[in-house]
Amino acid sequence: MTVPHIRTPLPGPKARAIIDRDEVVVSQSYTRGYPLVIERGSGATVEDVDGNVFLDCTAGIAVNATGHSHPDVVKAILEQAQRFIHMSGTDFYYESQVRLAEELAAVVPIDGGVRSFFGNSGTEAVEACIKLSRYATGRVNLIAFLGGFHGRTMGSLALTASKTIQRRGFGPMMPGVYHAPYPDCYRCPLGLKAENCAAECLDYLEDQLFLHLVSPEEVAAIVVEPIQGEGGYVVAPDQFLERLRELTTTHGILLVADEVQSGMGRTGKMFAIEHAGVRPDMIAIAKGIASGLPLGIAVARAGLMTWPAGAHASTFGGNAVACAAALATLKLLRESLMANAAEVGRHFMAGLKSLSERHPLIGDIRGRGLMIGVELVRDRRTKERATEERDAAVNAAFARGLLVLGAGKNSIRFSPPLVLTREQADTAVRIFDEALTEVEKARR
Ligand SMILES: Cc1ncc(COP(=O)(O)O)c(C=O)c1O
Repeated sequence: MTVPHIRTPLPGPKARAIIDRDEVVVSQSYTRGYPLVIERGSGATVEDVDGNVFLDCTAGIAVNATGHSHPDVVKAILEQAQRFIHMSGTDFYYESQVRLAEELAAVVPIDGGVRSFFGNSGTEAVEACIKLSRYATGRVNLIAFLGGFHGRTMGSLALTASKTIQRRGFGPMMPGVYHAPYPDCYRCPLGLKAENCAAECLDYLEDQLFLHLVSPEEVAAIVVEPIQGEGGYVVAPDQFLERLRELTTTHGILLVADEVQSGMGRTGKMFAIEHAGVRPDMIAIAKGIASGLPLGIAVARAGLMTWPAGAHASTFGGNAVACAAALATLKLLRESLMANAAEVGRHFMAGLKSLSERHPLIGDIRGRGLMIGVELVRDRRTKERATEERDAAVNAAFARGLLVLGAGKNSIRFSPPLVLTREQADTAVRIFDEALTEVEKARR
């Protein structure tokens, strides 16, 4: 069968019935943009409960790195589940958790020896980084960036500055958090041109924050996404990350890379910060690490992770089945998928860029590997954000069988499983082309 293949109106009758039940009993705080009710998935394709088949460029929000139900991952999960499912790595030992920590130590771009702390999600990985930064430095303050997303529990939420809806009604936030502008070069917060930007955004930290609000010697950590994910797939220039490293080193501030979305091979390297050659002190990992099983990990320089027994732990963190899935995932990433992300990512990006001339809605196309964002604007000169058009384009793609997600106010993200083929990338570009044509026609 060709993918995609849409055989019912969307949602189909079975999907409709499930969504109706969901609306009664499930928290409606989730942001479902369109009515996809999945029945099964394989590689980069997803079938819904009515037999419609979609091409998946979401990977369950950048999670299914190895594709849906990769046979090696399924096998690892089954084998582990048959032996034992859970024993809590907080109070007992099992080899898979140790092996995963060893394998991570071999791939993270952190100097010296490293240790791993295991949780269940991205937000828990970030919470662990926050707590460890404070503990290891004896300092309380943290700096994060506007537009950044780090999670929704009370510590990570204080760092998150993506959309106000995520904070509204939940204050006061954890104190001691300051925000600085992120180098969104398409919309430079300082009005500069990307070509001659030498990471001036960092001047704000030195000339404003450190001057008026917080002494650098009281800052525990600066937490940064090397590529903002929820914020719109915004790529920080290399020199920004390089200068951030210099600045943090000068002041004894820890540099924490939140690679929850950008990590695990998605950008063509294991971690996005490696593109800049920058070595942070801690890395928050989740999403892609276990191909869909819940796992969040804070990896830190061994010399920093000196907290004593009982200081921090999580019953389920580093669950044996999740660790088995992560080990199988890492193997696949190293053997082929990271390289595939780089190669197919380049092809995909070129395909999307070729649409630019035909579609005035396209303002910017950016990203690395298979982490690609397309920002839509009403006018290329004024860069007026095309938020409604973005939502319409996401829906028009869905109607044609292509799954994509929005990011930021007016961007679309392509974050497919890393098994995506060149042919599938071509299909995605073709459908996106049609979706944009439909939206542009409706605007006229
Ligand atoms: C960069 C980043 N950090 C943290 C998180 C939070 O992860 P989780 O939803 O697993 O708590 C996300 C989720 O999208 C993220 O993109």
